[in-house]
Amino acid sequence: MNINLGKGGDVKIIPVFKNVENVENAEKLYKYLKDKELFKGNSGELFADIANKDNKVLLLGLGEKSKISTQSIRKAFFEAGKKLMELKIESIEISIPRLENIHYSDAVKSVVEGLLQSEYSFDKYLSDKKIIPSIKTINLDVIKDMEDESTASVKEIQNIIEGVFLARDLVNEPAIAMTPKNLAENAKEELENLGIKVEIYGRDDIEELGMEAFLAVSHGSSQEPQLIVMNYEGDPNSKEKLALVGKGLTFDSGGYCIKPPSSMDTMHSDMAGAASVIGAMKSIAKSGLKKNVVAIVAACENMVSGAAYKPGDIIGSMSGKTIEVLNTDAEGRLTLADALWYATNTLKVNKVIDVATLTGACIVALGNINTGAITNNESLMNDVKKAGEMAGEPIWQLPSNDEYKELIKGTFADLKNTGGRSAGTITAGLFLEEFVNHTPWLHLDIAGTSYLSSSNGYLPKGATGIPVKTLYYLVKEF
Ligand code: BES
Ligand code: MN
Ligand code: ZN
Repeated sequence: MNINLGKGGDVKIIPVFKNVENVENAEKLYKYLKDKELFKGNSGELFADIANKDNKVLLLGLGEKSKISTQSIRKAFFEAGKKLMELKIESIEISIPRLENIHYSDAVKSVVEGLLQSEYSFDKYLSDKKIIPSIKTINLDVIKDMEDESTASVKEIQNIIEGVFLARDLVNEPAIAMTPKNLAENAKEELENLGIKVEIYGRDDIEELGMEAFLAVSHGSSQEPQLIVMNYEGDPNSKEKLALVGKGLTFDSGGYCIKPPSSMDTMHSDMAGAASVIGAMKSIAKSGLKKNVVAIVAACENMVSGAAYKPGDIIGSMSGKTIEVLNTDAEGRLTLADALWYATNTLKVNKVIDVATLTGACIVALGNINTGAITNNESLMNDVKKAGEMAGEPIWQLPSNDEYKELIKGTFADLKNTGGRSAGTITAGLFLEEFVNHTPWLHLDIAGTSYLSSSNGYLPKGATGIPVKTLYYLVKEF
């Protein structure tokens, strides 16, 4: 997809708000359709008139003018993109009008994002690939004096979407292909040429670091665990550094507390947190954001074997705290405990965000619309929430009063790795807080939002790439 500023193209996309009287460039057609009630301008509604040689148009509904948002623009242009590909259209012209309440550059970004989103598919394993010709050329007709800003916005959203698609690809790969080693290799390949330093530590190094909790989870697998540390220095003169820690279970069978088959087959997606921090690093570096960020992934598999950890085991951790393993399926928090301690105590970052497919309970609470959040710092919460709004990736904070901490106090060790069924997302989050050494910290539970059983708007079935966009905007804006 080649995106330029200017005019021209086989088909003109004409944005239409609901209930308007007439539409520029398609007066007659619109009047006819309106009278016959064939086109109302509902958000995402389409009418293609491409038989006429000299005036091919695609009417695209944007809904009520007062309700327009960046998210509704993304969705509408995603539908337009799909339609254009179906109609085998190779080049288009879009004039982007000024909209009330939306910055012009945000409108440009949303239009382009919607079109880019329509191109995603994960078909590398299909013998019969659906050959969908992509739209080759997009000409954006932008308003006067917004050319430079628009060019920059196009480039920025392309960088962001590259990170989103990278995250999706990593998650959609099955566990047989995306092993901890392979994930580490991918991070290296994708990030090193962008100036990010990628360090990979194997089992011996992880033992030396004392990451006993992380190692315990990995014991049942014949795949070697990998600690992946990705360092981006966009502002060498500053001491400020944010850590992005992603849960990297390349497969979660549940271990001896084994999952039923119906909830196991998608567990190659239990590294979606890791994928999202890798994807975000790509977007951040490509856009050259002037911030310091380090991403950390403790990657391993949770499997069953004679060497696997067992319910009732008492294990240590890098922090020195001891943990009773009451459920081997609550493994993510054990790997994250050591990764968070490494970020806050070894690297001494001054803020940390972790992203994890941590609890089924989060899906029960919030479904697949909102990502769940737990924090020890309300101002960080505000920033992340705003970044999520900019991204169109909604986030909902859950309470985390000290009272809940009683539920994860251990009997024979300092902590236990599950607090039982009640408040499962909250107790999982509070378990993580034990390992951040009072650093400003925020946890995102993406169990419901990172992987979908059916598509939703521009989010495809399978991996969504959430919350790559949120992480990008957080680093950029706050
Ligand atoms: N990876 C799962 C959480 C999950 C479930 C993610 C469904 C995506 C979809 C996690 O490791 C897990 O198994 N959590 C347990 C915790 C429980 C044993 C305390 C859960 O949610 O059941
Ligand atoms: Mn699990
Ligand atoms: Zn898991």
